[in-house]
Amino acid sequence: MSSKLFLLFQYIAFLSVILFQLEPRVADSNKIVVRCIDEEREALLTFKQSLVDKYGILSSWGREDGKRDCCKWRGVRCSNTTGHVKVLNLRRSDDENARMKVLKGKISPALIKLHDLRHLDLSNNHFGGSPIPKFIGSLNKLRYLNLSSGTPSVPHQLQNISRLHFSNIENSNLFTMGTVEWLSNLSSLRHLDLSCINLTKSSDWFLVVAKLQSLKTLVLRSCALPPINPSFVSHFNLSTSIETLDLSDNHLSSSSVYPWLFNLSRNIKHLNLGYNQLRGSIPEAFQDMVSLTFLKLPSNELEGGIPKFFGNMCSLNILNLSINKLSGQLSELIQNLSSGCTMNSLEGLYLHDNDITGPIPHLGGFSSLKALKLGKNRLNGTINKSLSHSFKLETLALAGNSFTGVISEAFFSNMSKLQKLDLANNSLTLKLSHDWVPPFQLKRLYLASCKMGPHFPKWLQHQNQLLVVDISNNRISDTVPDWFWDLSNDIYSINLSKNHMNGKLPDLSLRFDGTGIGGTCIDISSNHFGGPIPPLPSNSQILNLSKNKFSGSITFLCSIGENTWNIFDLSSNLLSGELPDCWLHFNSLSTLHLANNSFSGKIPKSIGFLQNIQTLSLHNNRLSGELPLSIKNCSRLSVLDLGKNALFGEIPTWMGESLQNLIVLSLNSNKFHGNIPFQLCHLALIQVLDLSLNSISGKIPKCFNNFSALTQERSFDPTIGLGAYVWVPPGIVDHISYLDNVLLIWKGSENEYKSTLGLVKFLDLSSNKLCGAIPEEIMDLLGLIGLNLSRNNLTGPITPKIGQLKSLDFLDLSINQFSGSIPSSLAQLSRLGVLDLSYNNLSGKIPLGTQLQSFNASVYAGNLELCGLPLPNKCPDEESHPCPGRDDNANTTEDEDDQFITLGFYVSLFLGFFVGFWGVCGTLMLNRSSRYGYYNFLTGMKDWLSVTAAGRSGMARIMSLVFRVLI
Ligand SMILES: *[C@@H]1O[C@H](CO)[C@@H](O)[C@H](O)[C@H]1NC(C)=O
Ligand SMILES: *[C@@H]1O[C@H](CO)[C@@H](O)[C@H](O)[C@H]1NC(C)=O
Ligand SMILES: *[C@@H]1O[C@H](CO)[C@@H](O)[C@H](O)[C@H]1NC(C)=O
Ligand SMILES: *[C@@H]1O[C@H](CO)[C@@H](O)[C@H](O)[C@H]1NC(C)=O
Repeated sequence: MSSKLFLLFQYIAFLSVILFQLEPRVADSNKIVVRCIDEEREALLTFKQSLVDKYGILSSWGREDGKRDCCKWRGVRCSNTTGHVKVLNLRRSDDENARMKVLKGKISPALIKLHDLRHLDLSNNHFGGSPIPKFIGSLNKLRYLNLSSGTPSVPHQLQNISRLHFSNIENSNLFTMGTVEWLSNLSSLRHLDLSCINLTKSSDWFLVVAKLQSLKTLVLRSCALPPINPSFVSHFNLSTSIETLDLSDNHLSSSSVYPWLFNLSRNIKHLNLGYNQLRGSIPEAFQDMVSLTFLKLPSNELEGGIPKFFGNMCSLNILNLSINKLSGQLSELIQNLSSGCTMNSLEGLYLHDNDITGPIPHLGGFSSLKALKLGKNRLNGTINKSLSHSFKLETLALAGNSFTGVISEAFFSNMSKLQKLDLANNSLTLKLSHDWVPPFQLKRLYLASCKMGPHFPKWLQHQNQLLVVDISNNRISDTVPDWFWDLSNDIYSINLSKNHMNGKLPDLSLRFDGTGIGGTCIDISSNHFGGPIPPLPSNSQILNLSKNKFSGSITFLCSIGENTWNIFDLSSNLLSGELPDCWLHFNSLSTLHLANNSFSGKIPKSIGFLQNIQTLSLHNNRLSGELPLSIKNCSRLSVLDLGKNALFGEIPTWMGESLQNLIVLSLNSNKFHGNIPFQLCHLALIQVLDLSLNSISGKIPKCFNNFSALTQERSFDPTIGLGAYVWVPPGIVDHISYLDNVLLIWKGSENEYKSTLGLVKFLDLSSNKLCGAIPEEIMDLLGLIGLNLSRNNLTGPITPKIGQLKSLDFLDLSINQFSGSIPSSLAQLSRLGVLDLSYNNLSGKIPLGTQLQSFNASVYAGNLELCGLPLPNKCPDEESHPCPGRDDNANTTEDEDDQFITLGFYVSLFLGFFVGFWGVCGTLMLNRSSRYGYYNFLTGMKDWLSVTAAGRSGMARIMSLVFRVLI
């Protein structure tokens, strides 16, 4: 179930192909006036009544004069001779601008009156996964049925059906089906699609499908297919009439697919085995698939290059080998593709997310090439010459490589068909003159980090069909011209972040409201925009205005009313005044980020209406008063950051009881007093608990070992909670439940993704009035990476058990009253990068060990009876002090390496956190391959990363960085 979201996109794309084929070709009979049959009109109206049509999809349906001819209603087609309704097609539009518009409700049995119905398609709407109504079995002329998300128990009468879609993409949970025996009766079946229905328990699927000898199309996408019994394969063959086979996202391995796949060979045209576990090099046996038109093998673990015979696949249109482990020089791969007729047929070449190196060779010979995606490889060199003859190119995506050089207008002069351009995150410089009129009309433009500044790219003025524009991080220090905001009616993602743009923003609510755009995503963060926040569109999904100079109050939010906002980030501006108290309208918010402003007054009660909120940060404002009890209702909260305010009162006991999803809780730098309530120990998922800089007194509760996430050295899931909302695609608000699944796609993938917030584990109780000993239970928190108990009044010895905390990088026990000697087990903490034991009552010799001596003497200062290296005062037995042994030396070097690794670890950790924490607009979610977009973003962060790593600032600095962002 790796990538529901990705599949959804694919699915939509796939359906559009099908629809195109099926759209009834009703003859244009504008002369013949066919009035529909009264009974059928009434039946349709009854059907309409049981639906919830919020978007007026069926507004053409009615009894009024001028509407009476039901044959002219949307989705209805009649026979031009008899007038009977033959087609009812209310499938949700795939149009990007209409994705939110769905029908809900019940499917009325009134449809049974449409005796002549042949084609019924209600797919992609929200009929709540209700079973396929029995009555549909009586529609015995039906040839095509698509209810997508119905429950498959097929009425027996459906024997004549030739196309059957039961796909279940609407539901986040796979519906599990038992035996599929019933299918074998459908002998005329030519098209079968059971996507997203869990067939794990249908071990007979192969046998049954093998009986369907007329089958031309078999789509079993995301079906959790059980392994095929090898003995079946030798006795039953799938129909060799199959032309389209889609078994993507099924965890299939090479050995389970290849044996029977290559039996089908000759007739197969479309083959999709993406999102499986195919390993090794691309098998020679594909050579026999002489009719192959579409070959899609993305997201497997294929290695090596492209075999030579691919050059002679004369029908091949689309070759998608993206997200694999292909390697070698691109020129060699292309060479193999260019040896024969494939050069003329190939329209789409997708090799992104591999490990391919070298420059792009000249591609002029690929005369049909429309789409070229090479992003996220290790390609370099210049791109000017190799692509100059690509007249037909519609999609050019090269992001995330190391291409260099200057791109000027000439590069685009032959690309009049270009619709998607993605050059983001290379080392390219785009020099396009002010008066340039591009030969293309783009729909998607991704030019992050292309050094286009300092002027705003005026040529954009000619791009009036844009859906997505990303010109982030381009050193643009200019005002945004007014025309930009009116550029295109359909634009739904704008990313201007990380520039130096200035000026005031116009009324954005006028620009982006109304026209049916589902979910706008606006990211103008990290610029110099100022003045009051402009009126904002209520149908937005992501609004990131952070890190600017907006000022004034935000009480205007109350006039926005109901909205679809999902991520709202105003952090790091100059905003002030009280927080508005109208959060009821904002209940789709999953992230509210108001940190680093000057908001004052109390946290309003209505904040409790944010029932979907996962991240709430009010950090570093001037908020005062007690926490409102209503926050209790925000039970999905995984990050609650109220640090650096003037909040007071006791830490509420309900926090531990009601907010059990908390992963990060920060109340630091406030005026909280009283004890740490033991109820807090219910926060089993907590990974970062920061109560520092308050007036909390009493003892540390013994139950801290209930923090189970902290007791684990490994993280359950590096992406817990936080990454989630980043993947909400605009316009598909209803599919938020897909998120968890989407996240899994990265789980198996190494590199950047393993270090995300899930790995930060930190406990900070410093600068309070805690007393008593450190409970031994804290030493069970084996996953702790940072522990700060400094500046309290803690007493007793440092328990030797501290040696258990092997992951510790940061340990601060300074300015307390700890006594006794330093346990020698402390020396076992080989990852320790920062240690502070100063100003306690520790005594005796500092244990000789690996790195305890390598710390600065100040780490031990203020402990009058402490002696030995690195302190200047010698212990009584110093005379016999031996030179450090050879082993010690070896260890020291190792440790230094280790420290460096851990530094990098933090940097990447921070990075991961950053990804999770901030709403990342646009690019990310709009790319077909989400991983790809994620990567783009990551590479955008690379500069920052190398600066930080190169500076190699101390651990503490990194930690504070981590937490400053966190906070
Ligand atoms: C499919 O169903 C089986 C059994 O009901 C379940 O264990 C499995 O997790 C399901 N697979 C998916 C991908 O939902
Ligand atoms: C509809 O009319 C056209 C001629 O206008 C005819 O060719 C076609 O066969 C008719 N279709 C049906 C379904 O009767
Ligand atoms: C491309 O990278 C390779 C090594 O990765 C290097 O040897 C080569 O010189 C680079 N080419 C260009 C044009 O930068
Ligand atoms: C710290 O604790 C000691 C005894 O446990 C007590 O005498 C002292 O007053 C305390 N100091 C503070 C600042 O609370």
